[in-house]
Formats: sequence, C-alpha cells, structure tokens
Amino acid sequence: MHHFKYRDNVMFCEDVSIEEISAKVGTPFYLYSYATLKRHFQAFNAAFEDVPKLICFSAKANTSLAVLKIFADMGCGLDIVSGGELYRGLKAGFSPERIVYSGVGKRIDEIDYALETGILMFNVESHVELELINRRAADLQKRAPVAIRVNPNVDPKTHPYISTGLRKNKFGINTEAAIESYRMAGRLEHVDVIGIDCHIGSQITDTKPFEAALISLKTLINDLKQMGTDIKYLDMGGGLGITYADEMPPSLSEYAEAITQQLKGMDLQLILEPGRVLVGNAGIMITKVLYRKSGEVKNFVIVDAGMNDLLRPTLYNAFHAIEPVVNSKENLIVADVVGPICESSDFLAVDRNICDVESGDLLAVMSAGAYGYVMSSNYCSRPRVAEVMVKGDRFHVIKTRENYEDLVRGESLPPFFEA
Ligand code: LLP
Repeated sequence: MHHFKYRDNVMFCEDVSIEEISAKVGTPFYLYSYATLKRHFQAFNAAFEDVPKLICFSAKANTSLAVLKIFADMGCGLDIVSGGELYRGLKAGFSPERIVYSGVGKRIDEIDYALETGILMFNVESHVELELINRRAADLQKRAPVAIRVNPNVDPKTHPYISTGLRKNKFGINTEAAIESYRMAGRLEHVDVIGIDCHIGSQITDTKPFEAALISLKTLINDLKQMGTDIKYLDMGGGLGITYADEMPPSLSEYAEAITQQLKGMDLQLILEPGRVLVGNAGIMITKVLYRKSGEVKNFVIVDAGMNDLLRPTLYNAFHAIEPVVNSKENLIVADVVGPICESSDFLAVDRNICDVESGDLLAVMSAGAYGYVMSSNYCSRPRVAEVMVKGDRFHVIKTRENYEDLVRGESLPPFFEA
C-alpha cells in the first residue's frame, strides 16, 4: 500500500502532482510520502501488538533526518551500524535506550560514542570486539549492555550479496562458538549480557528462514539458561521483503505469526530491525528522459539519473518498476533505461517494456525508498540529487540538491605544489 497514484493520468504523491514538484525542484530527485511511511510503521507495529517488543528501524535503509524523525516521533527505536548513523539518529530524536548497534567493524571511536550515549545494546559480532567493548567500558567507567550476534547458518534464499546468515558470511558468531562467547562475556567485568541477536539477510520472501533461525536461537537460549545466563532481549534483525515486481512476500500478519508462534512460552522481549519493509515502497525516484537512441540491437532511453543515484539495478540486478509521471502514451517499446555514466553497467532497467517516451518526459522509478539515496555517490562528479517529502497537499525539500561547490568541499592542494 502506498500513496503514489494517478489522477487524470498524472502521478500524484498524496495530494501533490509530481509534475508540479519536478517543475519546482528539477530532476532527478527522491520523493517520499509521509502518510505511507507512517502507515507502514503503524501496520508493522500493529502486527506484533500482542508481544512485548521494540521495533528498531534499520537506519541504513534510509537515513534522511525527516524520515528518521517520523519514526522517532512514533516511538520507534533505531538499528545503527556506524557512528554516523548514531549521530543522525540522535539528531532525529531517537532516545538512546531504543538504539541497538550492529556491525562487524565497529571502530574504537564509534564504540566510545555509543558507550557515552548509553545505547540499549551492542550486537557483538566477534570475541575480539567483545573484549574491546569491555576495555573501552572500563576506561570510560561505563557498563556495556551486549547481545551476541549469532550466525544460525540459514539460507534466506535471497541475492547472495544480501544473505548474511550463512556460515560463509562474515557476520555473527556460529551457534557453537556463541556459547563460548557468552561464557567469555559472563567473565568480563564491564559487560552486561542482556540479549541474543541474529539477522539472516534482506529481501526475504518466505517465512521459513526466519522460523529456522528462531528454532536454532531457541535451542541456544535454553542452553544458556542451563548455564545460568538469562537472556532478556531476542533481536531477530530485519529482512522482510517487499514487492518490486511480482514477488509475494509474506504479509505482515503472516510474518508476525511465524515469529510469535516460535516465541510462545518464552519470557523475552522481541526486537526487530525492519528497514526495507518500512521505507522501500514509501519512496520513488523521479528522473527525466534526455534522449532516445536506437542502437543496432537495442533501444535506449537515456535519462538524467544514473547508477550513482540509484545503484541497486547495477549492483544486484535489482528490478524497479518504471512508470511515466504523465501517462499519456499508448504505445509500448522495449528499451534499456540507462544513465549518463561511462559504464555499461549504468542502467536502471534492461529490456524493459516501457511507454514510448520522448525527451523531457518524466519517469518514476518505483520502490526506491530503501537503499536508494543512502547508496548514492558522487561518481563522475555528479552532485547528489535532492530529496523531497510530501504530506497531504504540501511538499518540502528535505535535502537540497548538491552543487558543484559541494563536490570540492574539503579538498585542498598540497603546499608542496608551490615549491
Ligand atoms: N539489521 C541488520 C543487522 C542488517 O544488516 C540489515 C540490512 C537490516 C537489519 C535491515 O534489513 P532489511 O529489513 O532492510 O532487509 N543494499 C541492499 C540491502 C542490504 C541490507 C543490509 N543489511 C539492497 O539494496 O537490497
């Protein structure tokens, strides 16, 4: 469910014409719907209404302050993977006791920042990290609440780049070694063991991998109990998929049912770290057609957004529906929708049935609210695009388009060039 709908053949975001926004803001830009973001969080929250829980939006999917603030104001928590995300989260108003910190490569300064902030817990991914967190907590005279991130060796059946819970992945600690980690954590003086964590992958469209992971975690939790270690929080990570093309991910209630079924009889507080499912279909990217070109074997629609603006098609061969903002053409063509970047991997769509567009037409790249703007770059010295949010009949530029000066900010020439 989202609020990007046609009215008289013109695509609207809530009550604002996207043509009108494009005329004022220029292209390309990301566009988010306030009502959709809010609704997605409420629906997710409601699906788990019967269990004690904390929903921590996974910041990596979309770190715009305006987006974060919507979630923070609804009592959501935050899942972070860097000091930068912690900074943004605090700026957006998340309370520290609702922030969990995951990631295999936490730096000392980032650990210190999180300790000083007083976050809910560190999801620890290795023994060395555990020791380091303990040392930093000692130095800073703090206590470090931790969960061990367990790698349950479950195949989430998703793109290999976004599978994380397999033995060969760099994430977490395998179930056998995890027992040892808990023993070790129990001996560390400045660490409080409060949780267990896992995240098996992203864009998962079946409930079974979640169930399999939970079953494995439950065994571990029981073993830990025998050892005298009581776990308070069970963090199941994120990973629920969305519909980009014709995927049929489980509904929120099916997902919630699968998880809560497994938790029956366990006295645990559930933590979830949804990213994509909250923001993916709440955002789109608007781009303009620059040229049409017919190669020997293909048609190309050349647009003003490239792989630097939306990397997912290039990196994961990901499918994003592409719709005309003004739906006035009956004829369809088959074309590659490509950007201005000097690489053949610079495409938004390949061999796509698309309306017979011409220069100046606006296209909406759908389902771009998650891992869109956050993964954009300045490659080819392209300024990062604007981000816009709509609420009802109003819109606001929540991030201005970068300009050429932004591109060289912080650069300087070495004094030794003078000599
Ligand atoms: N928690 C942890 C520890 C994670 O690593 C992730 C995603 C999430 C939560 C949120 O997962 P979600 O609910 O969004 O599936 N750039 C890729 C996705 C990478 C996901 C990385 N981790 C893409 O564009 O598909």
